[in-house]
Amino acid sequence: MARKKIALIGSGMIGGTLAHLAAKKEMGDIVLFDIAEGMPQGKALDLSQCGPIEGFDAKITGSNDYADIAGADVVIVTAGVPRKPGMSRDDLLGINLKVMKSVGEGIKNNCPDAFVICITNPLDAMVWALREFSGLPHNKVVGMAGVLDSARFATFLAWEFDCSVKDVNAFVLGGHGDTMVPVTSYTTINGIPVNDYAKIKGVSESRIDEIVDRTRKGGGEIVGLLGNGSAYYAPATSAIAMAEAYLGDQKRILPCASYVEGKYGLDGLYVGVPTVIGAGGTEEVIEIELSDEEKSNLKVSTDAVEELLEACKGLDEGLK
Ligand code: APR
Repeated sequence: MARKKIALIGSGMIGGTLAHLAAKKEMGDIVLFDIAEGMPQGKALDLSQCGPIEGFDAKITGSNDYADIAGADVVIVTAGVPRKPGMSRDDLLGINLKVMKSVGEGIKNNCPDAFVICITNPLDAMVWALREFSGLPHNKVVGMAGVLDSARFATFLAWEFDCSVKDVNAFVLGGHGDTMVPVTSYTTINGIPVNDYAKIKGVSESRIDEIVDRTRKGGGEIVGLLGNGSAYYAPATSAIAMAEAYLGDQKRILPCASYVEGKYGLDGLYVGVPTVIGAGGTEEVIEIELSDEEKSNLKVSTDAVEELLEACKGLDEGLK
């Protein structure tokens, strides 16, 4: 059987990390695409030379030509401009919307059967726009945010409780931004609801609230520390987990920015919800019971996403 083909659109910090992870896991042959000339070719060469040391077989190439992503099984999109200190995700809208248009057309013309994972921010708006521009079915275009946000939540909880991250199952809903909704009622420490475990360990409610707040601002915290870019190791690791769920038909339930129509009272919007990912792409959105407070937090989050979509429609006549 021929190897799978993974196209990475954007070969910057996340793109390069994605290529390294995908190669190490022998997920398939990899094409690093970028508009910058030489850079994807250089990274491809550098990464190829890891092969003999790490012992992976993967053909890694760099390209500035969309024809080279032809027939890709998975496309992961990081093309765009990352957030700079002091810049909100939403400031990125105008610039990255234009990028999504060219990427969407490149995918439509070269690999319309691919499973497409978008990482570019502002995520919930960019994944929607990418789907519109590419014309792919909604179940084949998804955004990576919830896996990362839940990983951040899980990390902070594991530190607080001094427990293994493997035992933390953290749950985050809503848009990828400061309005995201970490859902403590579905967050467990090896099955024990987090609020119960907090009582057992003498951790106060206000401390859990602080952790929730830190999770919401998790991306910005890293932007502030790095000084000239945004997070890339955990975002890349998150998207790889989603790609593996698709390629391996794993039917994992992962929080992703999926297209929601009907469920959660939403009418055609990409937003973070628990989603079954398997060979059919995003196969099912799982609707969970929420408390009134969680519902109203989710509404704030989805309203913010809707506002961004309206702004996108104002910026590009082709979007309606
Ligand atoms: N087509 C292809 N690649 C593009 C385009 C385009 N139209 N415009 C920009 N790029 C490339 C840049 O040349 C750069 O190499 O996208 C790459 C982005 O890489 P980085 O600047 O290193 O950004 P990164 O940290 O990888 O983040 C990418 O993910 O988390 C989000 O907010 C983040 O939107 C940003 C994206």
